[in-house]
Amino acid sequence: MPPFIPQSSQAKAISDLFLITLGIGGGIFLLVLALVIIAMVRFRARPGQPEPKAVYGNKKLELAWTIIPGILLVGILVLMIGTMQRADPVVSAETQPDLIIIAHQWFWELNYPKLNIKTANEIHLPVGKPFYVEIRSADVTHSFWVPNLGRKIDATPGFSSHTTLQANAAGTYLGSCAEYCGAQHAWMKIRVIAEPQAAFDTWVSQQSQVPQTPTSGEAATGAQLFQQLSCASCHAIAGTPANKTFGPDLTHVSLRETLGAGVLTNSPDHLKSWIQDAQAYKPGALMPTFGLSDNEINALVAYLEALQ
Ligand code: CUA
Repeated sequence: MPPFIPQSSQAKAISDLFLITLGIGGGIFLLVLALVIIAMVRFRARPGQPEPKAVYGNKKLELAWTIIPGILLVGILVLMIGTMQRADPVVSAETQPDLIIIAHQWFWELNYPKLNIKTANEIHLPVGKPFYVEIRSADVTHSFWVPNLGRKIDATPGFSSHTTLQANAAGTYLGSCAEYCGAQHAWMKIRVIAEPQAAFDTWVSQQSQVPQTPTSGEAATGAQLFQQLSCASCHAIAGTPANKTFGPDLTHVSLRETLGAGVLTNSPDHLKSWIQDAQAYKPGALMPTFGLSDNEINALVAYLEALQ
């Protein structure tokens, strides 16, 4: 989906105002350009003609070029106030959020409190339904922005912001952090996956499953390593003692489209490369390069891929 084609009434409000302002600005630009060209051609110096007389002051013209822009500016101000209301509809203070987004350096923690789902970086929404969203930050100021769906909204430490997220057509909408937040600011990608209600319900039931901890083979070794090594000090996996939120929730990581907030497409090979040397892909991220053995990494990958 090209980023500036609005797919929600909020984004449409912003896009409409942009097009009106572009039209007014473009019209003025063409008018001024035409007047300059006419003046250059019609009043150019000709051989044998004297210097033209200078003209000082013209009440009518001066009034016109003060009043007309004044009217235009007031008109744009009125349109803008209307746009602000359409782009950010007021929601009653008692409304419980459908989704809590917590920005971290450098990923998005996602929490659906009503559905009891925790995930990261990939927001699933039912098409056409407004989701009331609360946005927070775990560290510095970030900004949540999915251009097709609406305005930017800052994630400010110690403060909750609210917005409504809605997509009127099914599809994957790409967004990113829009406030410089450190070395990997560019790798804080957001995907909003808007799908028909039935597909959304399927996703919800998948995400709501507490995965069985594997009891045999490489995956079982991986499950033990996950708790013994430092993985469990930063990540959460439902149904296990791991419950930390310094890193993304890994309960259903194998069902996500990307790893590292968009740095890699998700596949067992990429997951392996990521665990092997996350710093090569995302220097400065909290995920260290542990120097694990190949066997250890393979076991961890087998475990994470088995969690469904
Ligand atoms: Cu987070 Cu920029």
